[in-house]
Amino acid sequence: MAETIDRIGAVRATRDLTSSVRMIEFAPEQGFIPPSPGSHIDFSVMIGGRPDVRSYSLVGPCSDGVYRIAVKRLEVSRGGSAYMWSLKPGARIAHSAPANHFGLAPGRPEYLLLAGGIGITPIFSHALALAHAGARFRLLYACRNRGEVALGDELRERIGDRLEVVLSEQRRIDIAKEIDRLDARGELYVCGPIGMLEATKRCWSASGRPVDLLRFETFGASGQYPAAPFAIRIPRLGREIAVAAGKSMLDALEEAGIEMISDCRRGECGLCALPILEVDGVVDHRDVFFSDAEKASNAKLCTCVSRVYGRAISLDTADR
Ligand code: FES
Repeated sequence: MAETIDRIGAVRATRDLTSSVRMIEFAPEQGFIPPSPGSHIDFSVMIGGRPDVRSYSLVGPCSDGVYRIAVKRLEVSRGGSAYMWSLKPGARIAHSAPANHFGLAPGRPEYLLLAGGIGITPIFSHALALAHAGARFRLLYACRNRGEVALGDELRERIGDRLEVVLSEQRRIDIAKEIDRLDARGELYVCGPIGMLEATKRCWSASGRPVDLLRFETFGASGQYPAAPFAIRIPRLGREIAVAAGKSMLDALEEAGIEMISDCRRGECGLCALPILEVDGVVDHRDVFFSDAEKASNAKLCTCVSRVYGRAISLDTADR
């Protein structure tokens, strides 16, 4: 759900946490609203000369009245991360108040936090809040290699050996085993790439635990295949629309004048989904809206995040 962007913040400082993750601090001009752990802020960005919105989790606790976000510069990006990286101290940017769809539920006997890559940003705040509350928890943080570990030192300093960094070039997290170790009434919070989210959902479901004790946050950007250009065909309209590697299907359709319905633009609400007629290639489902069975059936796809790895896809836009 997009938030109302009615505030202005001034960039106070930037700091590179890794070669591809930059922390940006900014001071709100309309007064500081303290964020709860797991909160995010929406920003107004310019992409290709057009205004757009990007959402970033706050790196808490922000107790000094300054908001902090960590932005990963994506190699294939629609332009949001490049815009955020272009901001220098003193730059002003429009943003929303903090909002939270990934808040911590208090009082569980144990928590398991699972982060992959830049998914550490909301999980960082959760870990600090749990440590402050004296809660029992562990944080498993998966990164490809040591150079990609952002906020590792800060976490180690604050939560000690409750942090376990797992480098995927050496080994993978055994998610099923970690869930087995969790208290029966314990809660799991996960934020990371779509593969990690899907694997976690599968393992959680196989464990028979209550669905409401699994909480996840998406950033809807990563898939099973690299982002490459392809074409959308709409037989009913006799149209063929090119989708560049750094552009979403939803953006390409809207820019081509197709009337679309959307909301989250993160693969969560399903509003942008269209029926698939034919695929020349593989559908890379990157949403968390459809179930595994629905994805396997390839009946529909979420155009805001999902892509095709191949030449083209034919879609039905009859209800648009
Ligand atoms: S707009 Fe919500 S899933 Fe695409």
